Amino acid sequence: MKRKILVTSALPYANGHIHIGHLVEYIQTDIWVRFQKLYGNDCVYICADDTHGTTMMLRARAEGRNEEEIIGLMNVAHLRDFNGFGIEFDNYGSTHCEENRTLCNEIWSAIRKAGMVEEKEIEQLYDVEAKTFLADRFVKGTCPKCGKKYQYGDNCEACGAHYSPADLTDPVSTITGTVPEIRKSKHLFVNIEIEHQFLNQWVHSGALQPEIENYLSGQFLGEPLHLWDVSRPEPYFGFEIPDSPGNYWYVWFDAPTGYMASTWEWCKRKGHDFADWWKNPATEIHHFIGKDITYFHTLFWPTMLKTAEFTLPKKIHIHGFLTVNGEKMAKRRGTFILASTYLKYLDPSYMRYFYASKLSSRVDDMDLNFEELESKVNADLVGNVVNLASRTAKFAVHTGLSDYYPDDNGLFEQAAMLGDEIAEAYENGDYGKAIRLIMECGNRANKFIEDAAPWTIKLDPARKTDLRDICTIGLNLFRQIIVYLAPVLPKLKTQVEELLNCKIDHWGLSKEHLLGTQVNPYKHLMTRVEKSGITKIIEESKQENAVPSASGNNSVGVGVGNSVEDSGDSLTAEPLLETKISIDDFTKVDLRIARIVEASEVKEARKLLRLKLSLGGGEFRNVFAGIKAAYEPEKLIGRLVVCVANLEPRQMKFGTSEAMIVAAGSGNAGVAGHEIFLLSPDNGAKPGMRLH
Ligand code: MSP
Ligand code: ZN
Repeated sequence: MKRKILVTSALPYANGHIHIGHLVEYIQTDIWVRFQKLYGNDCVYICADDTHGTTMMLRARAEGRNEEEIIGLMNVAHLRDFNGFGIEFDNYGSTHCEENRTLCNEIWSAIRKAGMVEEKEIEQLYDVEAKTFLADRFVKGTCPKCGKKYQYGDNCEACGAHYSPADLTDPVSTITGTVPEIRKSKHLFVNIEIEHQFLNQWVHSGALQPEIENYLSGQFLGEPLHLWDVSRPEPYFGFEIPDSPGNYWYVWFDAPTGYMASTWEWCKRKGHDFADWWKNPATEIHHFIGKDITYFHTLFWPTMLKTAEFTLPKKIHIHGFLTVNGEKMAKRRGTFILASTYLKYLDPSYMRYFYASKLSSRVDDMDLNFEELESKVNADLVGNVVNLASRTAKFAVHTGLSDYYPDDNGLFEQAAMLGDEIAEAYENGDYGKAIRLIMECGNRANKFIEDAAPWTIKLDPARKTDLRDICTIGLNLFRQIIVYLAPVLPKLKTQVEELLNCKIDHWGLSKEHLLGTQVNPYKHLMTRVEKSGITKIIEESKQENAVPSASGNNSVGVGVGNSVEDSGDSLTAEPLLETKISIDDFTKVDLRIARIVEASEVKEARKLLRLKLSLGGGEFRNVFAGIKAAYEPEKLIGRLVVCVANLEPRQMKFGTSEAMIVAAGSGNAGVAGHEIFLLSPDNGAKPGMRLH
């Protein structure tokens, strides 16, 4: 029977670019969805950008534009990256849309009606200059326990102490560098303890992996559940709570509802009934997420859904974190790799295949080692799978395929019988097992071709039929493998459809022979991994403005500790200022290395060039610099300079200038005859480095 399946991946934060850590999840989900579709199920893949929160608000302020504009640009960037990796959503929306607001209202009313909302005054640090309350990530100070300086507001890296930001000795806001004050404000809380019994059952309903079940029962469900703080006082970028003016839903309230909002958009576009997907026990809802966001999806989210009478998830597929060469991704090592950087130098199929071969149904972390990727791809895909086609298709172009299936010692039958086991492995998320089974088919098929050695008989006119039969077997075994691999390698699948003049559009084809047809001239299907591509990716990633996002948290255990509350707010834009400002006013000047990423003339101005500086960490500054007389804009692009990053933005005739670049010179900068020399760092400096 055809299943009705709605699949989601976690919604990536709109303020960071997609990197290879994210891709573990999106590739994993895409493979699952493609498998379901190929298998004949009615399946939709839904995702969106997660847009709300303090970080977005601060970034908009820093860049001098509104949030919608940034959201729009990041949406384009995300979709380009996903598309580059063959990740195909049925709908990709945004949490900042009216559908989402409506759904939040609906769920909120239900929660109110159920008597689950409580109001309390709480004390928090407030940055007077930035006019905002400070989440833990935006406060640094001295650890109250061990005295170590520059520690974040939630815990100390030196001694491991947990505390609240107000306990820090001399706290400083990382946004403005000022000393925050303690202020009271009203927050709204959801009392999820009311649904404790329900959660006890749901956690064991089969929706979760065993290790997650244990983690939740052990860490949370053994005692009363804490109140969940779901509001933030203004200013906050998000949806204002309708019955509590001046308060906004915390980003984690309206993020998962984004799954529904995006589905709703899709329904409108395709003429489906929304209730069919979210209020229908016959629909299976599957969420794919990383372990760091476990508790939002397994405690709060089911409670919200149940209270508002929506369908509960059938399964939450939780994966571990990506490490590279056994370590956390790090810019310094060139392993914080953006999707877009990878795409410049290597075939995305390699990555899809590599991740697939590594994934299991468990929550384990996964390591990416480029040498392993190289040898796996070269051996399995080029040496095994593609080899099968390249060794037979070139003869089959002339012979065509036989119109009966010749004797192959039972190989086709054997591989056809494995179809169920491979399908089950995909279904369970055990792609590594699926890949192993498929590669074994490839090995047996290659052995057959090796023994039959079509190249030894290709010129023998008396053995034309033999040659055709061997090719028929080789290409049928090959096609069978491509059916099995299609969820992982959709591009290869399309190439093979062209080669063999057949559609590969349902799983059952792995049991059917392809006979009596013509074969098209063989074109290269896949090339070996080039070492130089890998080197370039690493090199460029060291230079790049890679964004340290909430996802750097490799060290967290399943579901993490208390810092998770702030995931929505956590750094994507790095703090605008290093925490500590000393007595001397001069040190307030935030001097940083920046890279000029855009440069153009301001036609109407005699002296000015318009520059865009990248400061690393996803931070940019638009600058109008009076250096037109000395520099051609094109020649500046890519160059490193020194800039004053915390200059008050200045409104100019042509736009806002948000920083200043440092130059030496004689006389009036920009006046002809006077020399100007931009200051640049020595080799090795990177954008974002601060001057000490
Ligand atoms: N916006 C939230 C999710 C809201 S869902 C209603 C978020 N965004 S994120 O951009 O930080 O991460 C998106 C997904 O990518 C998460 O599931 C996260 O676990 C996953 N990953 C981010 N970095 C990762 C690795 N380094 N490795 C594996 N998965 C990673 O969380
Ligand atoms: Zn400490």
